[in-house]
Parts: sequence; structure tokens; C-alpha cells
Amino acid sequence: MIDRFGRTIDYLRIAVTDRCNLRCVYCMPSDGIKLVRHEDVLRLEEIVEVARAAVDIGVIKIRLTGGEPLVRLGVESLVAQLAVIDGVADLAMTTNGLLLPKYAPLLAAGGLHRVNVSLDAVDPHRYAAITRGGDVREVLAGIEAARKAGLTPIKINCVLAHEGRDAEGMTPDARDVAAFAEREGLQVRFIEQMDLADGRFSVVHGGSGGDCRRCNRLRLTSDGQIRPCLFSDLGFSVRELGAAEAIGRAIAQKPPAGSTCSDRTIGMIGG
Ligand code: 5AD
Ligand code: SF4
Repeated sequence: MIDRFGRTIDYLRIAVTDRCNLRCVYCMPSDGIKLVRHEDVLRLEEIVEVARAAVDIGVIKIRLTGGEPLVRLGVESLVAQLAVIDGVADLAMTTNGLLLPKYAPLLAAGGLHRVNVSLDAVDPHRYAAITRGGDVREVLAGIEAARKAGLTPIKINCVLAHEGRDAEGMTPDARDVAAFAEREGLQVRFIEQMDLADGRFSVVHGGSGGDCRRCNRLRLTSDGQIRPCLFSDLGFSVRELGAAEAIGRAIAQKPPAGSTCSDRTIGMIGG
């Protein structure tokens, strides 16, 4: 569907959970975030229904995000149900990779096309510091498992910290990740760290705010809101309105450009 600013809306990002098995410093406070109540989390059948309604109005690309999508029980069955929707040309997942050694074969069998893996440092101590205790060896094993399972092309997402930038705007961690990606033949995308101080975030100019004029996205939060823009508080409940109506309203009210979003943490919206 084309919105009122002439943008083709063909991409749905689904946050399948707001939970995560890491606590990255730029994403969450150390004691975690206020989680969505269990009864408010969309059931997998409801997510599939929203995806079908989205494909009906022209969505061809679906990405599963979180939180960490692989901590959601039954995520492989969700993938399998999404993969058979007629019209889904691209079915991808953004994951921190920790659980890929277990899930990559199941996801591939279910019909997932590819994964993006978040990796902000390669050095084990640096990775543990950024993720508050994560083991980078598990991520590396996850990337290997994804490759073996054919979840390719694998892309690496690396959040670029503000501190420690050199003349080219890179950090030592980012350089390590770039070298790793090069060695492994993987594409890497650097994402400007957004300031989540006090749970608010806003558009970073020249950062991952992206190009609003060409934004093709809708988001589904784990508690069932269709959100037309990451940088806005607008949200339409699929339980209250039904999937088709919530999607219709979100597209009708998709802002021409982002401003600020204060009522959700990024994990709930899915980056
Ligand atoms: N700034 C930029 N990206 C973030 N993410 C989470 N928090 C932030 C932040 N403060 C994104 C990153 C990460 C994904 C899980 O969420 O892309 O890889
Ligand atoms: Fe989890 Fe991703 Fe947030 Fe890190 S950035 S805590 S991996 S959701």
C-alpha cells in the first residue's frame, strides 16, 4: 500500500517478545525493563493473523525481532506459519545469536530465509562488558550454525558507541567487528548508538533514524500495537481494532518524519 506521502509500505517488523537473554548497556538498565504482562503478549496465532493482514495490503518483507526473538517459546513454529503465507518474499530475523546453535536448523527447516546477528565486539571481555555477561563464543558458534543451516546472507549489526571514536568515527570494537566480518565474508552494518537515557529516544541525525522519505516500515510490538514510526508514540491495538483496521490506521497516520517516542523501550518495538 502507498501512504499519503507516496511511500510504498511493504515491510513489517514483528517484535515477538520484549524479553532478552542479554542486558546490553545501551539497550537496558542493569535491572532490566518493565516487561509486558503475560496476558498482553500476543499469542503466536494472533501474530500470524496480523502478518496475513499485512501481506493482504502489500507487505512482502517480514523481519522477526525482539527483545531477543529466540527466547520466545515456539518461535520456530511461528516462522513455519509465516513462511507459508503466499506473498512473503523475504522472511528474516534479527537475533543476538546466542541461541542459534540450537535453533538455526529448526528455523531453516521452517522456512526462515536469513538472519542478522548483533555483534558489537569480538574480544570476549569487551563483549561481556557491553552485554553485561554475554559469552561471545556462543555468538560465534551461532553464526557458524546459521551458515551451516543456509540462513544466508548473514549480516552483522554492530552498534557504534559514542566513546572512543577515532578520526574516521570508528571505535576499536567496531574495527574488530569489521575485521572479523571481512575474514568471515559477512556484511556488516554499523548502527549509531541512540541515547536511551531515562527510557526515551529520538531521531539521531545521520544515524539509524534512517531516511524518513523512503521509509517502508510498519512495526508490530509484542503487546499488539501496530506502530507506523519508531520515533513516534502513535500505536494502534490489533486486539481492539482488529489487524486490518489497526494496519490501515497506522498507514493512514504514518508521520512524514520521526520526532520522539517516550512511552516504549526500544526492545519492545524491535529496533
Ligand atoms: N541504539 C542503537 N541501536 C540499539 N538497539 C538496541 N538499543 C539500541 C540503541 N540504544 C538495536 C541494535 C541491536 C538491536 C538488538 O537493537 O541494533 O543490535
Ligand atoms: Fe538484548 Fe538486543 Fe537489547 Fe542486547 S540490544 S539487551 S541483545 S535486545
